[in-house]
Amino acid sequence: MLWGAAFHQYLLMPPLNSARDHAVQRMFDRIAGRYDLLNRIISFRLDARWRKQAIGTILTRHDALVLDLGTGTGDLTFTAAQSGAGRIVGLDFSLPMLRLAQQKKNNARHGEKVGFVLGSALESPFKDAAFDGVMTAFVLRNVSDLSIFFSHAFRVLKPGGKFVSLDMFPLSRSWFSIFYTLYFYRLVPWIGGLLAHDRSAYQYLSESVRQFYPPEQVAYLIEQAGFKRVTVRKFLNGAVCMHMAEKAGASILAS
Ligand SMILES: C[S@@+](CC[C@H](N)C(=O)[O-])C[C@H]1O[C@@H](n2cnc3c(N)ncnc32)[C@H](O)[C@@H]1O
Repeated sequence: MLWGAAFHQYLLMPPLNSARDHAVQRMFDRIAGRYDLLNRIISFRLDARWRKQAIGTILTRHDALVLDLGTGTGDLTFTAAQSGAGRIVGLDFSLPMLRLAQQKKNNARHGEKVGFVLGSALESPFKDAAFDGVMTAFVLRNVSDLSIFFSHAFRVLKPGGKFVSLDMFPLSRSWFSIFYTLYFYRLVPWIGGLLAHDRSAYQYLSESVRQFYPPEQVAYLIEQAGFKRVTVRKFLNGAVCMHMAEKAGASILAS
């Protein structure tokens, strides 16, 4: 029983294993209250369009049960509810982020389709092959072990189910990258300091992009986890990429 279990998960979440996970969890706990506001300002609301496109790639049926890994304040989860998913579970290890998601649920259109669970995306409590789709947005850079993350996504997905991820990636040199670098590595930490009173968190955000793998390497890790048909779609010259993949099932095996 997913919905009833949601609040119990607050008590049952096992301790996190890695120091990096702890640090990331504490940082999101700290900035939760200003997260949505800063997200809107920093992304110029472009993220809303990418989220809809990402959801469109995994919704193959209208009663689909979908998992959102690292749901945060629930933006991707609520967009999926409004885009026709049957039921959506949002999982995150930051309780303050989930509390905000839970508050939004009361006023959200189709909020009744949504449930939230406190837990780690590296060892969540869900059964094997439980979900028709698994999605995640702006989480990969924060994860301590991407291979475990993708293997876990693969485990909980039904055969024939689809996976999609949106995230930010380092840019190769171009005219666009000069402006982008100025904005993202200089201005964003300053805006974070001003509005969230937490410059270090937004400095971390910029650094996590600068030090992240190229999208091709992430595609390789997704494949290594067992996924098939891994493809990448690039937005803003590759500053944001959408990775799509499938778990082999009857339909894929037959083709
Ligand atoms: C940048 S926010 C993105 C939130 C949301 N997906 C969105 O698109 O706005 C990253 C979220 O991932 C969560 N997160 C990071 N690593 C996680 C992990 N290992 N397990 C669960 N949640 C994690 C953080 O707590 C945070 O809420």
